[in-house]
Amino acid sequence: MAFERWFNRTLNRLWGFVEDRSGMPKWALRPQPEFTFKPSYWTGAFVVNAFLYQVVSGLLLLLYYQPSVNPTYTACGQAVGTLSAAPAAWCSTYYILHSVPMGSLLLSSHLYGAYAMIFLAIVHFYRGYYLGVYKAPREFSWMVGTLLLLATLGMGFTGYLLPYTQLASNATNVGLVLALRLPYAGPLLGPFILADGTSQGLLSRMFAAHVLLIPLALGALLYAHIALFESHGIAPPATSDPTQRRRFTHAEDKKNVPFMPHIFFYMTKWALLYVGLLLGIAALWPWELPTYVGNLAATGVVTEPDWYFLWTFKLVDFQGVTPVLAVGITNVILLFILFLPFLDRSKRTHPRDRPVFLILGNCLMGFFLMLSVWGGLTPGVQISPDQVALRLVPIFVVNAVVVALFYWRYKRNYLHRLAAAGKAEVRPGAYPLPTSPAVSAAPALSAATPDGGPRD
Ligand code: HEM
Repeated sequence: MAFERWFNRTLNRLWGFVEDRSGMPKWALRPQPEFTFKPSYWTGAFVVNAFLYQVVSGLLLLLYYQPSVNPTYTACGQAVGTLSAAPAAWCSTYYILHSVPMGSLLLSSHLYGAYAMIFLAIVHFYRGYYLGVYKAPREFSWMVGTLLLLATLGMGFTGYLLPYTQLASNATNVGLVLALRLPYAGPLLGPFILADGTSQGLLSRMFAAHVLLIPLALGALLYAHIALFESHGIAPPATSDPTQRRRFTHAEDKKNVPFMPHIFFYMTKWALLYVGLLLGIAALWPWELPTYVGNLAATGVVTEPDWYFLWTFKLVDFQGVTPVLAVGITNVILLFILFLPFLDRSKRTHPRDRPVFLILGNCLMGFFLMLSVWGGLTPGVQISPDQVALRLVPIFVVNAVVVALFYWRYKRNYLHRLAAAGKAEVRPGAYPLPTSPAVSAAPALSAATPDGGPRD
């Protein structure tokens, strides 16, 4: 007991010293309410964590990788056992996998880490979509987030070609045909991406984009994203109350939990779990390198992208969908996501109060899932319009009917409860339900002023 008291006192004094001398309270992120100690409030931080792992593992891979299409990498001959005619980019990847100590763990975890980062960014996006975190005052956070998602996909696209496998080369060519059909941007991007039109030119540009240009853009966007987050604070729980404030003031922050060390250690715990899981999976299921570009002995290499682009590939397989139309559809989806905060104008954030956007979000998810599974099962197989209608229309119809029924039931129950409480009239645009425990855990927010106060 006495030891415990002494230990805690010493730790507190030590921490007080570090806080004072480092000026930490001034530069650390703002404190957060107690109810945010749940993984669902920090999905973005998980993406940051995944990004950091990619940076560290990518820098280590740079020690061995050679972005060249020439078969001049002597270490490859030694590693393969014969003098190989494979391009240096493929050979150096082979060398990392088979000869560098822990190289297989490093490369496999970098690849699976990329999958995890994209998956977590999609989870973060959908969480924000369903809980309406894009509403005032977080419109710009949402828009910068959309650009971050694009940059993340760009990292995946450019990284896919780097091992220089025939599979990746085929898929990259299809992707480039689509990207270069972008109206206005396509012709401008063309010379920039294709360089001098040689395969070396393309590989060099993809390499530069993957290790320098996109990471820099991602870093800058992330800075803006976190600065906006810091300025507005975390979004309160989704609610049916349109008068609930959406922002904590800094005076209220003083009652919240400090970022350092509490939230930081909370994140570190999840970060360590993430790295442990990633390394475990990479050790159990190491990546196997497909054959290299130009291997004349290889036959039947399919054209298939990684899972996150399968949906675009299937879209081009639909009869009547030209590359230009596919690019057009993708752009409409993108613009919808980008400008969502200005399309959904209601003040309620709870998904049960936003049936139209709930249906649209479900349709979007159904569309991506369906096309991805379809693309994985039947890559390159042409699909007739009636097959498309047979598969996609039922998803959309069932989704719309189910959401509409739930909404009708919810509103009817609400009106009954109002009537039982003797309140005959529903204020226009307001049907406040009992606030959730999470909301009442943040007393400052229930003292409502419509738009949230400015920082003090
Ligand atoms: C590389 C991708 C991304 C990273 C690293 C990232 C990172 C973060 C971080 C660290 C936060 C603070 C809260 C949290 O941890 O959840 C956050 C919040 C936020 N993000 Fe992202 N984000 C990314 C992508 C996106 C996307 C795709 C969107 C939506 C289109 C988005 C929209 C938002 C919004 C609206 C907030 C404020 C949410 C709140 O206050 O609860 N982000 N993001």
